[in-house]
Amino acid sequence: SVDPIRVGSVSEVPEGEALLVPAATTGTVPITVFHAEDGEFYALDDRCTHGAASLAEGWIEDDQIECPLHGAAFCLRTGAALTLPATVDTRTHRVEVDGEDLLLYPG
Ligand code: FES
Repeated sequence: SVDPIRVGSVSEVPEGEALLVPAATTGTVPITVFHAEDGEFYALDDRCTHGAASLAEGWIEDDQIECPLHGAAFCLRTGAALTLPATVDTRTHRVEVDGEDLLLYPG
């Protein structure tokens, strides 16, 4: 879809925090929007490519998200699996700030 979804307000997601957008909202899979420490917002598929973990519950470190279950790190910018045990890259999604609104473009 090329239509953006308003998923929340910028003020609801401070730096270092994440916002889980459920499948019912995205129309596809659950997607998490991350507010990285560089001030940028990024979006990835919420489910870890290694197992049944929600990356929304992980830890943001610089431009990476660390899986809460086994600690694999993914690049927030590219979705690349950076550390074991994950070996499969995840998907990124476009997210934009429009005034106070967070807009997500599910891929
Ligand atoms: Fe994420 Fe294993 S489920 S690293």
